[in-house]
Amino acid sequence: MDNNKSRGFTSNIGAILAAAGGAVGLGNIWRYPYMLGQNGGGAFLIVNLFFVLAIGIPLMMTEFVIGRRTQSNVVGAYKKLERKKGWATIGYFSILAVVLIYAFYSVVAGWTLNYIVLSCTNSLSGLTPNEIADAFASFTAGSFWPLLYQFCFLMLTALVISFGVQKGIEKISKILMPVLFVLLLLMVVRSLTLPGAKEGLQFLFKPDFSKLTGAGVLGALGQSFFSLSLGMGAMVTYGSYIRKEDSLFKTSLWISVCDLMVAILAGVVIFPAVFSFGMDPAGGPQLVYVVLPNVFNNMPMGGLFAAVFFLLLGIAALTSTISLQEIIVAFSVEELHWTRRKSSIISMISIFVIGIFCTLSFGPIRHWTLFNRTIFDFFDLVTASYLVPIGALATTIFLGWFYPKVEVKDEITNGGALKCRFFELYYFILRIVAPIALIIIIVSGIVG
Ligand code: TRP
Repeated sequence: MDNNKSRGFTSNIGAILAAAGGAVGLGNIWRYPYMLGQNGGGAFLIVNLFFVLAIGIPLMMTEFVIGRRTQSNVVGAYKKLERKKGWATIGYFSILAVVLIYAFYSVVAGWTLNYIVLSCTNSLSGLTPNEIADAFASFTAGSFWPLLYQFCFLMLTALVISFGVQKGIEKISKILMPVLFVLLLLMVVRSLTLPGAKEGLQFLFKPDFSKLTGAGVLGALGQSFFSLSLGMGAMVTYGSYIRKEDSLFKTSLWISVCDLMVAILAGVVIFPAVFSFGMDPAGGPQLVYVVLPNVFNNMPMGGLFAAVFFLLLGIAALTSTISLQEIIVAFSVEELHWTRRKSSIISMISIFVIGIFCTLSFGPIRHWTLFNRTIFDFFDLVTASYLVPIGALATTIFLGWFYPKVEVKDEITNGGALKCRFFELYYFILRIVAPIALIIIIVSGIVG
């Protein structure tokens, strides 16, 4: 176990794979393809690409600057940078967002584990579409099994975390991310060789700007934040582990390329298959857990590909839960001076206690609502619409307006060692463009 002081990733590729692992998650595999399909396909892709380049990458660089400059967790980082007390509130805010996200994210991650088991034991094959839908509904509405799988997922995550940054996070990311890409490519080949694949590709990519509404554009912006894990200290924490000689710009660029590529390829896997078997391209958890098992049932060697697909989903979820828990663990190790092991165990148990309510909100306590939403949906809404954009806004304002420009430049250019021709552009985005975009997201969340 390395203690957090001999901190950090040992290589640039390690940093990129670990952070890309945090970014690539459930959001890429079911949310992105669905949004793409519903919002004018290629049109949404172009807008999303623009937002990733124009705002996502600069914001990621900003979080990296904060983390690497201070070599600290998300709370400690602001404490070290602030000239006047109070900015560290942003850090606590991030921790709160992470706790809520992890609580509901782990529910869906647990479902993945169930589906890995079901597909490996061939339990889904031969079921009719109705039986598959019923199986999903009765599984998620239960208590014992969904809670058990959620707990297993949390344990697995905590186990990796307890091995430390280098021997746990970096090592597992270097193994799992290449595996994820290989499995994904395997699925792409399977899907593209199905009859009727073309129609699915058309649904996905044909740019239809008439289908892209204002809400769609905003969705593309929100998706780029969520997918890149911005606004909740994930990249501050991982930024503190990036070596001083690595380029923050290039690192951010590579992470974003990986994230986008997985999202697009996931669409290429899902939609040709869905269309090929005449299924409804519905969104959300239904798409992955109900529609796809039917597709696999109709496909030659479907059982094998089902197992591959859910394994892929599980890996994507695991590297994300690792990055979520690390934010909390880095905080409790550095600020509360707990050991890494104690931090891993206590944070895991705390998340599970809160997560129980999220899991049960599909079953026994589905009638417990907050603002007309189940607990699961409420956590999702509060984090995505409020906590994350507000946290990101505070971050940009702090670094852009209350922290010396020379210091920002010093960190981005590695003390002058790197030429950064885009620095002025980056700084303009940091101070002006990103805050405006974030304010629009926050306001439209309140109004709409
Ligand atoms: N980016 C992840 C996904 O696409 C979800 C996510 C959002 C996340 N914020 C995070 C993951 C913070 C880890 C840390 O699924």
